[in-house]
Amino acid sequence: MSEHSHHHGHSNNHAHTTDAELAEILDLDALILGSYLEAATDWAAELAPDSSSIIDVGAGSGAGTLALARRFPQASVTALDRSAGMLAKTLDAARDFGVAGRVDTIEVDLNVAWPASASADLMWASSSLHELADPERTMAEMFAALNPGGVLIVIEMDGLPSFLPESMPEGSAVAPGVEGRLHAALAGSGWNQYPEWTSGLERAGFAVERRHFPTLGSSTPELASRYARSFLGRMASALEGTVSPADLASLEVLLGAGPESVERRRDIVVRGHRTAWAARKP
Ligand SMILES: C[S@@+](CC[C@H](N)C(=O)[O-])C[C@H]1O[C@@H](n2cnc3c(N)ncnc32)[C@H](O)[C@@H]1O
Repeated sequence: MSEHSHHHGHSNNHAHTTDAELAEILDLDALILGSYLEAATDWAAELAPDSSSIIDVGAGSGAGTLALARRFPQASVTALDRSAGMLAKTLDAARDFGVAGRVDTIEVDLNVAWPASASADLMWASSSLHELADPERTMAEMFAALNPGGVLIVIEMDGLPSFLPESMPEGSAVAPGVEGRLHAALAGSGWNQYPEWTSGLERAGFAVERRHFPTLGSSTPELASRYARSFLGRMASALEGTVSPADLASLEVLLGAGPESVERRRDIVVRGHRTAWAARKP
């Protein structure tokens, strides 16, 4: 979920988001749209069933780390991130789920270098590769650090999560189609942009397969509204000056306290899409 120019480099145009805010969004995403975690860890287990060492690359608040620890009950899972706060959340979650004995962490900035001692049978990089300064260099480092026959799973969101229906009732203060326009504006400023990773992975030496995972959110209305508020709120701060005043006004209505706010409306449905690449080291 970061700004990223197409071929290289990264920068953050949503630098106002704190780690705590991002962690909330990541946790809600895993709770509500987490069915991809099951599907993608199943795929990993088909391809690398005997994995005993796993690295979650850019683990964030640990949704992937936990899903992997559950799916591979014999394996040890290392969460790798440059944020100490995120790693602390991952360890807390591992304790809550009773897998702390098999989860450890490495605090490292991958823009500097891959940590020398870190090797594994299975690696997992979810919504993290596109945040790196030089993803192809990191792919080559991951290739070198995978054990022979090992597999790297890369996951990205194909589109931003959406919450609203296309049409709005007569007289609504929320403009129909507003969400699509907000997404387009964010895409224009490079949010969550990532290249088709296949050829980069192939250049690093991997044999690559790709799958698509649409996900319809399952949750309570209360959780869905919380996710909508966190996500739309984060969008609002990135959008100033890039969308029409009418669309910004709609966003304000959604984030306000009135009858059309995300908490009070009854038409919120969370949808997401993810693509996963399975890259095998021959
Ligand atoms: C959008 S979050 C994804 C978290 C998690 N994998 C998930 O799918 O929920 C990206 C994570 O990558 C981490 N990250 C970004 N750049 C990094 C770097 N250069 N080195 C290590 N971690 C990095 C961030 O700190 C953040 O926790």
